[in-house]
Amino acid sequence: MERNKSAEDLIKSILQRLDMAEIVEEDLYDNIDHAELVAILVRLLCTQMELPLDFQHQVVMAAYLHDIGKLRLSKNLYGRDKNALQIEETKYMRMHAKVGADMLEECGFTPEICNAVHHHHENYDGSGYPGNLSAEKIPLEARILRVCDVFAALISDRPYRKAFDVDTAMELMIEDNKSFDMKIFLDFMKVFHSEGLEQVTRFADEMNEKKRLEAAKSS
Ligand SMILES: [Fe+2]
Ligand SMILES: [Fe+2]
Repeated sequence: MERNKSAEDLIKSILQRLDMAEIVEEDLYDNIDHAELVAILVRLLCTQMELPLDFQHQVVMAAYLHDIGKLRLSKNLYGRDKNALQIEETKYMRMHAKVGADMLEECGFTPEICNAVHHHHENYDGSGYPGNLSAEKIPLEARILRVCDVFAALISDRPYRKAFDVDTAMELMIEDNKSFDMKIFLDFMKVFHSEGLEQVTRFADEMNEKKRLEAAKSS
């Protein structure tokens, strides 16, 4: 699979700069692939929303970097044999949003990008983290990321479940839409019904296939 060099280079250069080059490769490439999938969705959604180009670039950059905090946190875990679901659900991994924003601030990224990363798990109804922000109090960049991140996660294989197909993923999001800014979600639905979706499914299919091959090799 063709990895997007700019996501990979960007993430690696930050890790280098923060003295974090010693990351488990699997964690690193999972992070890069997920970042790229979210960035593909963000590009399509921002275009649909007709946002100014420089704003779009900021959100794409934030998409590349939104989960970088997980790499700092996973470094502190004792190994990969822990139940991944358990790890994901701990308060500990919830820190990744703030940790990521701090890492980016340390590297001199703009406040907009740092804030987008800091708040990418806030829900529109105020039930998210880390700030329990709601509605317009959540930065627009973060509200865009939220929709794309959830869809990307649903159509990706997880250690504890297989990827959902795109139609099921969309149904699940419609059923549980309180997390999303409805205006943004409606635009996302237009993207879902556009030709752009093909690029998304192609990337996700390749990514999931690659993960399955790697898992089969190591078992
Ligand atoms: Fe995240
Ligand atoms: Fe994510």
